Amino acid sequence: MGNKKIHIITFGCQMNVHDTERMRMIMKQEGYDWSESPDDADLILLNTCSVREGPENKVHSQLGRLKPLKEKNKELLFGVTGCVAQQKGKELLKQISYLDLVVGTDAIASLPNVVKKVKETGKPVVQTEFQDNSEYEFVELDINYNFSKFSDFVTIMKGCNKRCSYCIVPYVRGREVSRPVEDILKEIEMMAQKGVKEITLLGQTVNSYRYQGIDFASLLYKINDINGIERVRFTSPHPKYFTEPVMDAIAELDKVMEHIHYPLQSGSNEVLKHMRRQYSAELYLSQIAYMKKKMPQLEITTDIIVGYPTETDADFEETLKIMKEVEFDNSFSFLYSPRPMTAIYDLDDPIPEEEKKERLHKLKELQEEISISRTSKLIGSIQEVLIEDEGDGRNKNQFSGRSRGNRKVFIDDIGEYKLGDIVKVKVISGSVHALKGEII
Ligand code: 5AD
Ligand code: SF4
Repeated sequence: MGNKKIHIITFGCQMNVHDTERMRMIMKQEGYDWSESPDDADLILLNTCSVREGPENKVHSQLGRLKPLKEKNKELLFGVTGCVAQQKGKELLKQISYLDLVVGTDAIASLPNVVKKVKETGKPVVQTEFQDNSEYEFVELDINYNFSKFSDFVTIMKGCNKRCSYCIVPYVRGREVSRPVEDILKEIEMMAQKGVKEITLLGQTVNSYRYQGIDFASLLYKINDINGIERVRFTSPHPKYFTEPVMDAIAELDKVMEHIHYPLQSGSNEVLKHMRRQYSAELYLSQIAYMKKKMPQLEITTDIIVGYPTETDADFEETLKIMKEVEFDNSFSFLYSPRPMTAIYDLDDPIPEEEKKERLHKLKELQEEISISRTSKLIGSIQEVLIEDEGDGRNKNQFSGRSRGNRKVFIDDIGEYKLGDIVKVKVISGSVHALKGEII
């Protein structure tokens, strides 16, 4: 009999994608091999997101679809991990009778024990305690873990101390804890040894990082010195901590890429205040202006919430105005979704659904126009690309990677170059968000 197999289905943000990778690593140490399909797995986990109602509902539909597998394989275990697990805990077991384990966001390291306990007792196990203090242990990278990637994530902090009125994250990810700086540097060095060229630093408010006097800017300087790492990204910064030293570090450090994902949420000061975002539209714009001056080639993406309950037509127009002014390369826009536990969960929401959808449509149309115009400006330019994938999309021989500005770039012929190389490419054409280029 071969090894046991695990399959994990991931929803939500990069934090979750990274948690999935860490769970895969931990379970590998327990003898679980990765299974590409749920069909022949012995353990299936849904790593869930609860930021909006839509992603949360997917948990129920996915598990329902997978249920027949349980009838075929009596040993098969089903688990829910991540933000919905944290949010609902025991309640999930009541809702889903065939669920075996529920593991919260702070309990990833205990996954093997939870699985063992389920097997020993034959009963479901729930583990959702928070570890909100300096003793919190980040899951450390196992050097023997065989990951064949050139770009990887590094968690630098967990949780969130903000209380944005609409956001469930603080309640499902707990309070902020910054990871010890020496552990971060050690992990990145290990990754570099394994051939990783690009890292993305992760944190809910990544730039509020602070560990024994080391702030986010100082951390960037230290990481920039690590041999072998060629590119540094981070997500997502909060305007409150986008200080001049942070912006200067991004501009000065050659390995820190010219892209920021900078959530705006709304362009209206009234709405921002109600959201408790702790910045004004003017501050956001002045920071963008400061950075664009230092890095004219900077690419900026954002998140926007449309149809916040207090958003008037005039507020929405303010958002469109900022979008035009900043010229975001891309934006992720979401209809407001009331979330349990949040400050405005019960707030009256007078905006008709149709109106909200119309606003969202208008915003998406404007973004597409801006994105096309931004893309057209890149045609003919020279971009530096880390070649990451082969056979992307329909064309099996095509290669692809990311520019410094985080644009997807397709390349037909890479000649003597190989995956993991960083090449100079001349952009020959572009679609809304992607580019096509030739190596020069
Ligand atoms: N409704 C809609 N969108 C939300 N987001 C967070 N909470 C909500 C909510 N209640 C969006 C924000 C955030 C992104 C990850 O999800 O734009 O930046
Ligand atoms: Fe979703 Fe937020 Fe949890 Fe990420 S942290 S998985 S976006 S709820």
